[in-house]
Parts: sequence; C-alpha cells; structure tokens
Amino acid sequence: MRYSSYKTGILEIDIQHANIAFMLTELAKEGSEKEVSERKFEIIRNALAHHFDFEEKWGQANNRNFDSDHRDSHKELLEKLNELYNQYTNNKLNMCEISLTTKMELLKHVQNHDMRLNA
Ligand SMILES: [Fe+2]
Ligand SMILES: [Fe+2]
Repeated sequence: MRYSSYKTGILEIDIQHANIAFMLTELAKEGSEKEVSERKFEIIRNALAHHFDFEEKWGQANNRNFDSDHRDSHKELLEKLNELYNQYTNNKLNMCEISLTTKMELLKHVQNHDMRLNA
C-alpha cells in the first residue's frame, strides 16, 4: 500500500491517514501475542474514531462541504471495524485479514470522500 494513495493535500489529514496505515501494517505482522494484537487493534480503533472526529470538525472550521454521506461513511467504517473484531473473536478472521480489509475500506473512503475536502 503506497501512502501517496491516501494523499488529499491537507497536511494534518494526510499525516493522520499515514499513521493509521502504518498502524494497520504493524497489526498485520505475525508473531505478536494475542493480547498485543488486541491492544494494537484497540489503539487503531481509537485513532480512527479520533481521526473521523477531527476531519468532521476540520471540515466545519474550514467551510468545506461535509455531506451526510461522508459522515455516514465514517459511522459505517467504525461499525465495520466492530464487525471484523467480532469475526476475529469467533476465530473466523485473523488480524492480518482485518488489517487488509480495513486498509482497502479506508482507501476507498479516502478516494470517495476525503479527496473532496480539498476540491
Ligand atoms: Fe473521511
Ligand atoms: Fe480521513
């Protein structure tokens, strides 16, 4: 995954995306103990919730058109993360699969929504 795929041209937002992408790569690394992986996941979930919050406030503060679709997509992504975690606890997914799925979902989100913040 190239970090440049996430570039919106808005520095704070790009840094947050790059940090989250980096954490997702760390999550995919094998050999971590279960507790460590679960802690990493928790940190990513918090970082994502914080990022969405930041982005929504940034949009407001900078007079960007932050449509309800974008807001809904944030909510859906957090719900998706919970769903993936449930599948992990039922032994249907491992953290590597969670990492990959989340990266793809995030990339789609950035391209469909975040890019428009800098239009
Ligand atoms: Fe967004
Ligand atoms: Fe974003």
